[in-house]
Amino acid sequence: SMIRLIGAPTDIGAGHRGASMGPEALRVAGIVEALRDRGMAVEDLGNLSGPMNPWKPPVNGYRHLPQVVEWNRAVYNAVREALGEARLPVLLGGDHCLGLGSIAAVADHCRLHGKKLLILWLDAHADFNTNQITPSGNVHGMPVACLCGIGPPELTQIGDHCPAIQPEQIRQIGIRSVDAGEKRLVHEMKLDIYDMRYIDEIGIKRAMEEALSDLDDNTHLHVSFDVDFLDPEIAPGVGTTVPGGPNYREAQLVMEMIADTNRMASLDIVELNPAYDDHNRTARLAVDLVESLFGKSTLMRL
Ligand code: ARG
Ligand code: MN
Ligand code: MN
Ligand code: MN
Repeated sequence: SMIRLIGAPTDIGAGHRGASMGPEALRVAGIVEALRDRGMAVEDLGNLSGPMNPWKPPVNGYRHLPQVVEWNRAVYNAVREALGEARLPVLLGGDHCLGLGSIAAVADHCRLHGKKLLILWLDAHADFNTNQITPSGNVHGMPVACLCGIGPPELTQIGDHCPAIQPEQIRQIGIRSVDAGEKRLVHEMKLDIYDMRYIDEIGIKRAMEEALSDLDDNTHLHVSFDVDFLDPEIAPGVGTTVPGGPNYREAQLVMEMIADTNRMASLDIVELNPAYDDHNRTARLAVDLVESLFGKSTLMRL
C-alpha cells in the first residue's frame, strides 16, 4: 500500500535536545527517494505541529507532561487517519515518547478491523518506567508502560481503549539498558525481552525467528525503531547511546527478516538526533536499514 510519511519534529520527551531535527535529517538522507526506488508509492505529509520544548525540570516525575500529551494526540490522530485511508504510516520522530500515540492509534485501528497486533520494539532501552521509578523524568523512557496501562490517565487514555495493548503483544529486541525499578516492573508484567545477552547466546537469526514466530495472515506488525537500538559505533546520532548493540550486519538481518514476513503495516523511526551525529551518517544508515525493512535485498527483486 502507499506509504505516508508523518514528521513529528519534537524532543519533548527526551533528556537531550535535538531529536526535533530527526524528520528533516531523514529527508535530507533521502528517505523518500529510497522508498520510491524500491517501487513504493510515497506521500510525505510534511510535519505535524505542536508545542515548543520549554526545557523545564520534571514535575511530579514527568518532564513536560502537558506538551507530551499534545504531541501524542497529534501523532495519534495522524496515524489513525493514515490507517483509515489505507496508508502505511511511517512516523518520522521525534523522540520515543511518540511511540505511545502511534501505537495507540494502530491498536485502535486493529481492534476495529479484527486484526491481531504484534509490536516489535527495537531499542537499547525497555522504555517501561513510571514517574515513581524513572531516574530522569523523561517520558521517552515510559511509552511501553503507558501502552500497557501503567502511567498517568492523560497518557494511558490517549486512544479509545486503556490499556491500549497487552504486554504479550510486544517483543523487545536489542535491550541492554534497564533501570533498577524498571527491571522489577518488566519482570512483573512478563514483558517479552530479547536482550543483548540472549542475542549473544543464541544469535540474532534465532532470536528474530522466535520473536516473529506467531505471525499469521491476519497479523498487523508494527515496528517501533529507536535508532539507539544500533551500536553507537555505527549510529552515533542519538541522545542516549548504549554500547554493545547490534552491528551493521546484525541490524540488516533484523530488517530483512521483518521484511520477509510481509506483515509490517506501520513503522516508527525515532530518537535520531542530528546534533550528536557526524555529517548525517546515522540518518543515512537509518534510511539504508529502512530500505531493507521494505524488502531491499542483494539478490532478490529490485
Ligand atoms: N531508561 C532511561 C530513562 O528512563 C533512558 C530512556 C531512553 N529512552 C529512549 N527512548 N531513548 O530515562
Ligand atoms: Mn526508546
Ligand atoms: Mn532507546
Ligand atoms: Mn564532523
